[in-house]
Amino acid sequence: MKIAFLTDPLSQFKIYKDSTYAMMLESVKRGHQIYAFEPQDMALDQGAVWAKVSEIMLTGDTHAWYQMGAVQNLRLQEFDAVLQRKDPPFDMEYIYATYLLDLAEQQGARVFNKPSAIRDHNEKLSIAQFPQFTTPTLVTRDEARIRAFFQIHRDIILKPLDGMGGAGIFRIREDGMNLGAVIEGLTLNGQHTIMVQKYIPEIVHGDKRILLIGGKVVPFALARIPQNGEVRGNLAAGGVGVAQRLSARDLEIAETLAPIVAQRGLLLVGLDVIGNCLTEVNVTSPTCFQEIFQQTGFDVAACFVDALEAAI
Ligand SMILES: Nc1ncnc2c1ncn2[C@@H]1O[C@H](COP(=O)(O)OP(=O)(O)O)[C@@H](O)[C@H]1O
Ligand SMILES: [Mg+2]
Repeated sequence: MKIAFLTDPLSQFKIYKDSTYAMMLESVKRGHQIYAFEPQDMALDQGAVWAKVSEIMLTGDTHAWYQMGAVQNLRLQEFDAVLQRKDPPFDMEYIYATYLLDLAEQQGARVFNKPSAIRDHNEKLSIAQFPQFTTPTLVTRDEARIRAFFQIHRDIILKPLDGMGGAGIFRIREDGMNLGAVIEGLTLNGQHTIMVQKYIPEIVHGDKRILLIGGKVVPFALARIPQNGEVRGNLAAGGVGVAQRLSARDLEIAETLAPIVAQRGLLLVGLDVIGNCLTEVNVTSPTCFQEIFQQTGFDVAACFVDALEAAI
């Protein structure tokens, strides 16, 4: 197969922990040809969706880990699969890229995750489709509503709807100190909609990343445990990842969502579960493949490429 990866710049990859790298390595092992391009390499031109792609050769070296072939301008439909692995920010440029990928799909390209499904699934807001699994949650830009929510719960998390890696996450406790400034800052004085949640105390045991691949549940989660008094478990915010078997509740949540998201064209989904609550449904470019493999021997990348091969 010819597989094209839409990614951030390869030069920024940390290959010892990057899930896209693990996918590339597994694909090459199976004899597939891999290519890479970035959003700015795409164009709609004379009705077709093109990308300036380069074939990627993996060297096995940990530093100079890839070699790039010559740039070729190809129609995305010429690939057997296009993998969307670009990280957020989920801004208008990201959305434009999903529109181009939609068009490419209509022209015969196979794109994973399905671009329209990525667009429809805000990673934070889509938990609202599964209210049986969520902690009390408010989405608004109205200060009065946020203050009323705080009066009820007295220990809350405030977060932007378009963040990742723990960026812009605040906890406000009983004394309410800084609530006004955090509301102003995150809502940009009422112009920006945010999410406010009841604080889930089980975060001290980790924010569990549960992967759903091709409608199946990966049996190990990566609990990302906040360090040094941090509230954020994200690895990007210094959290430590500990792989563990799914709990009964984790399984209940994962098995409920798995067939639903798969049916929507989401081949790879990363749920975030804190304690008994679903807090995020990550669809843009879920990670944690390597940490789970290293600690449990469960080969997530192989599982993913199996699902990809079955899907096309
Ligand atoms: N309701 C909550 N209760 C406790 N901690 C939370 C809550 N929501 C988020 N957090 C903390 O913030 C981190 C990031 O939150 P998340 O909603 O997953 O956003 P991001 O997109 O930045 O990963 C989590 O790993 C967790 O440590
Ligand atoms: Mg998260």
